[in-house]
Amino acid sequence: MKPRHVAALDTDADHVPGPAPASARAGAICGLEPDCVIRTSRLGLRVCRVADAARIHAIFADWEVVRWLGAPPWPLPLAETKAYIENVTAGFVQIPERYLVIEHDGRIAGGIGVRAHPQNHLQRAAGPHIYYWLGRSFWGKGLMTEAAGALIARVFAACAGPAIYSGAFEGNAASLRVQEKLGFVRDGVTMLTCNPRGGIELPHINTVLTRSRFEARPR
Ligand SMILES: CC(C)(COP(=O)(O)OP(=O)(O)OC[C@H]1O[C@@H](n2cnc3c(N)ncnc32)[C@H](O)[C@@H]1OP(=O)(O)O)[C@@H](O)C(=O)NCCC(=O)NCCS
Repeated sequence: MKPRHVAALDTDADHVPGPAPASARAGAICGLEPDCVIRTSRLGLRVCRVADAARIHAIFADWEVVRWLGAPPWPLPLAETKAYIENVTAGFVQIPERYLVIEHDGRIAGGIGVRAHPQNHLQRAAGPHIYYWLGRSFWGKGLMTEAAGALIARVFAACAGPAIYSGAFEGNAASLRVQEKLGFVRDGVTMLTCNPRGGIELPHINTVLTRSRFEARPR
């Protein structure tokens, strides 16, 4: 089935241009430089390296984590995990992306990334699109809200765009709640391929976050 918007749920109308970027170094993707590091009170976010592949592969061995992702296929061979990191780092991907690992108490707890995404069935305008995941033992401690909040703050500070996009497969209540806490609103439903589930298409809730909603989020 061809992906398409099938319903508009809750459209955020205040798409207003934000401030121009303070600085933009060559090689930045959505304002994140190739050596970007972000720190929060409990977490460190840094660019993913091939040496992280074994840890990421171990987290992706858990079906409860990968079942909610659009990619990768599952089960995922370690060699493909390495190849994916290499390709993203070298820019050999269709959509430029900055892929970071999330470190907590000295361990990789998960991953988070941002793509310089074109307008398509997942988002109504071109702009940063974020995705994320955490190993199961790290769930339920507010870590993803903290990580994504810090990443989003950095992207909004460095980019002039009015909005950041994300979403989740229907039924992913935890992820939609993370996004709600950050100020995202629902912006339609589309069908999206779920590679871990053998490439079937499933309903995906698109979401959008404007600067004003992010700044007004409860903290
Ligand atoms: C989604 C995910 C990143 C959330 O990480 P997390 O660190 O546990 O998230 P947080 O603790 O910051 O917030 C989770 C919120 O969802 C709520 N929640 C969790 N499970 C829920 C459920 N089944 N139904 C409703 N709410 C739920 C939590 O109570 C919390 O909200 P609260 O702070 O108001 O109590 C993590 O569950 C995960 O990695 N899941 C598998 C991969 C995935 O889904 N990635 C996202 C793809 S879009």
